[in-house]
Amino acid sequence: MQSLRIGEYTVAYPLIQGGMGVRISGGSLAGHVARCGGVGLVAAAGIAMNSPLYKGNNYMQADPAALKEELRKAYEIAPNGVIGVNLMVALSDFEALVAASLEGGAKVIVCGAGLPMTLPELTASAPQVAIVPIVSSVRAAQLIAKKWWKGYGRLPDAVVVEDPDTAGGHLGEKLENIGTGDYDHYGTIRGIKEFFVVEYGKEVPVIAAGGIWDREDLLHALAQGADGVQMASRFVATEECDADENFKRAYIDCRKEDIGLIMSPAGLPGRAIVLNRDDIVAHDRTHGIACSTGCLKKCTYKESGERFCIVRALDRAQRGDVETGLVFCGTNAWKADRIGTVREIFDELFAEKEAEMAA
Ligand SMILES: Cc1cc2nc3c(=O)[nH]c(=O)nc-3n(C[C@H](O)[C@H](O)[C@H](O)COP(=O)(O)O)c2cc1C
Repeated sequence: MQSLRIGEYTVAYPLIQGGMGVRISGGSLAGHVARCGGVGLVAAAGIAMNSPLYKGNNYMQADPAALKEELRKAYEIAPNGVIGVNLMVALSDFEALVAASLEGGAKVIVCGAGLPMTLPELTASAPQVAIVPIVSSVRAAQLIAKKWWKGYGRLPDAVVVEDPDTAGGHLGEKLENIGTGDYDHYGTIRGIKEFFVVEYGKEVPVIAAGGIWDREDLLHALAQGADGVQMASRFVATEECDADENFKRAYIDCRKEDIGLIMSPAGLPGRAIVLNRDDIVAHDRTHGIACSTGCLKKCTYKESGERFCIVRALDRAQRGDVETGLVFCGTNAWKADRIGTVREIFDELFAEKEAEMAA
């Protein structure tokens, strides 16, 4: 089992904890993953929600401040850990959150939900910070690399390839193309690795995300050409995860068939527990909830009241209202059977490495 190098940073284990927005992966989860030897990510999306800094009318000010506060908490847990952020390009305050990430000492910035075309410019004052796009196709990786190379002489420090057929949360693929069996995750990963070697003569670490749950999945990903894995759903049912216990219980209680797709007002499909789909939408209508944060650049709820307010639906779930809240999860969430610890997950995934080190 190899370690993982991303830019200037090396972690003992080839694992990034996937960012989980609206405070599912806050400072606690990110800090504990980093302490165990992986890359811990605080997700920036909606981080102001459920923060004492948010007073109901200052979302745009509270969001970057709350992100810095969660980074501070993560470093308190793992002072020397590799701690970073996950940012969605689709967020209205994307640029302010990049600035806050740098101020808060993020070592890695992982960006999804859109192509982060200007990220090298936004991070130019901190070239030591590793920048990592999330893509689902070779084409998207090529577009980003060409723009970064031509515009800024920079290439990604790693690329995360997210499988739309298994990953949780917002997905970078059209609804009609998901679950058709056409998507070749490891073919995409190998294609992206080859592109960087052929085009730039450079080995860029490529990370597999989506549907990785146990050691067998991890070994399979590495054998198929990935340099590491990004895992999110597996870390939800842990003591250290920042969500309410009801959120974690929703994973433990759900069945395979309860997990499905829901169209987000962001215009992207999302994978979640969908048993309460109607109650999520009905909640906003019954309570006459209007958009009060403007969190997304483009949002059908903000623009025309279509669908539901995503940041509030995710926030309700994070606080424990899993009846009207939206519980994002990957296809494997049903495998959660108890609330354990981050350390236990690392021990299980990297048992061999532990044994090697002890020998
Ligand atoms: C609850 C939850 C919230 C998520 N939020 C985000 C997010 O804010 N930004 C993002 O880029 N990905 C998000 N994701 C996707 C994960 O970071 C990850 O790439 C994906 O879920 C990996 O698949 P797995 O959950 O099967 O491990 C989320 C996933 C989950 C389960």
